Amino acid sequence: MALPILGLLRYVWSAVKIYVLGFIALLRQIFQKHEVPELHLHTGKIAVVTGGTCGIGFHVSLGLVAKNVHVVMAGHDIQKGKEAITKIREIYPNAKVDYLHLDLASFTSIQNFVENIKARCSKIHILVNNAAIMLAPYKETEDDFESHFQVNYLGHLYLTQSLLGMLRASGTEEFYTRIINVSSIVHNIGSLDLQNFGKRYLSSILKIHEAPSTNKMCTHWLEYSPHAAYANSKLDIVLASWHLSEQLRREASPVTVNAVHPGVVNSSLYKHVHPAIKWLMDLLAKYTYKTPSEGADSILYLALSPSVERETGGYYDNCRKLKTCQLAYSDSVIEQMYILSTDMIQARVN
Ligand SMILES: NC(=O)c1ccc[n+]([C@@H]2O[C@H](COP(=O)([O-])OP(=O)(O)OC[C@H]3O[C@@H](n4cnc5c(N)ncnc54)[C@H](OP(=O)(O)O)[C@@H]3O)[C@@H](O)[C@H]2O)c1
Repeated sequence: MALPILGLLRYVWSAVKIYVLGFIALLRQIFQKHEVPELHLHTGKIAVVTGGTCGIGFHVSLGLVAKNVHVVMAGHDIQKGKEAITKIREIYPNAKVDYLHLDLASFTSIQNFVENIKARCSKIHILVNNAAIMLAPYKETEDDFESHFQVNYLGHLYLTQSLLGMLRASGTEEFYTRIINVSSIVHNIGSLDLQNFGKRYLSSILKIHEAPSTNKMCTHWLEYSPHAAYANSKLDIVLASWHLSEQLRREASPVTVNAVHPGVVNSSLYKHVHPAIKWLMDLLAKYTYKTPSEGADSILYLALSPSVERETGGYYDNCRKLKTCQLAYSDSVIEQMYILSTDMIQARVN
C-alpha cells in the first residue's frame, strides 16, 4: 500500500514541478525580447543535427543551410528525412543537405550512423545534439535503458564520444568545432541524488551484466514518473556537457561544448501530455510559445556566431549565457556520473 501512495505523491510532485517551472519560463519568455543572432556565411563547414527533420531541429538545419553549411540531418524516420530535404531544397535549391538514419534508442544504430558519416565526410565542424522525447510512457530501449535516459542523454553521449576524434581533428585556430547539447530549463528540477543515481544507474548496469534477465527497472507504473525522467535526462545533459567541455579544455583541443534551452516552443514534443492539460497548452502555445524557427535561434547562435568562438562549458537561453544548477554539484559527483555513464555504454557495446 505504501508504494502506490508514495509513488503517486512522487508522480504528482514531479508533474507539478515541471508545469510550474514551465509556466514561469513561459511568463519570462513573454516579457523578454526574443534575440535573433546576426550570422555570417560559413561555406565549407559540415554540421550534424540529430532530430534535424522536424520541429526545432528542422529549423536549425534550415538556418545552417542558409549560411552555406553542409547539413546532415540525423533521424529515425526516413520519410520525414525525404520530406525535410524536399522542403529545404524548395527554399535553397543548391543546398548541401543529406539525411542519415540514426535511432538514438539503439547503440547499434548509433554505431552504424558513425560508420556512415565517417565514410561520407572527412570533417564535422558542428554537432547539434537536439533529438529528444518528452513525457513518453515507460519503455525500455533495445539496450535495456529507460527511453528518456537513452534517447535524450546516453545515446547522444555515445554519439559524441564516437565522433570525438573527428570533431577534434575538424577544429582550427579560426573556428573551433562546436558541440551544442540541447537541454531544457527543466534541468533545474532534475535530480541526481546519489542514492537514486546509484539505484537507477547501477540497476541498469547490473541488468546488462546479468542479461538475459526478466527483471524490469520499474515493476510498478507508479515507480515511474515521465516528468522526472525528462527533467533528469536534461540535467544529465547539462552536467555531461560541462564535464566534456572541461576535459577538452584541459587537453587544449579545438572543440567547445555548450548546452542550451531553446525556449518554450510550439512543437510535437508535447504530444504525450495528458489530454486533460493538452487542450490548455495548445491554446497557450498558439499565442505565447515561440515558433520552432525562433526556438532554433539560440542553437544557431551557438553554432555559428563569432561572439561565442572558444566559449565553452556554458548554458544558454535566448542567446545569453546563464548560470545553471550545475553549481550545486561538486566536480567529483559530475565526474562519477560521467564515468558511470561511460561504463554503461562500454558494458553494452563491447
Ligand atoms: N519544444 C519545447 O518547448 C522545448 C523546450 C525545451 C527544450 N526543448 C528541446 O528541444 C529539442 C527539440 O525539441 P522539439 O521541440 O523540436 O521537439 P520535436 O518536434 O518532438 O523534435 C524532436 C526530434 O527528436 C527526434 N527523435 C525522437 N526520438 C528519436 C530517436 N530515438 N532517434 C532519433 N531521433 C529521435 C524526433 O524524430 P521523430 O519526430 O521522427 O520521432 C524529432 O525530430 C529537444 O531536445 C527538446 O527537449 C524543447
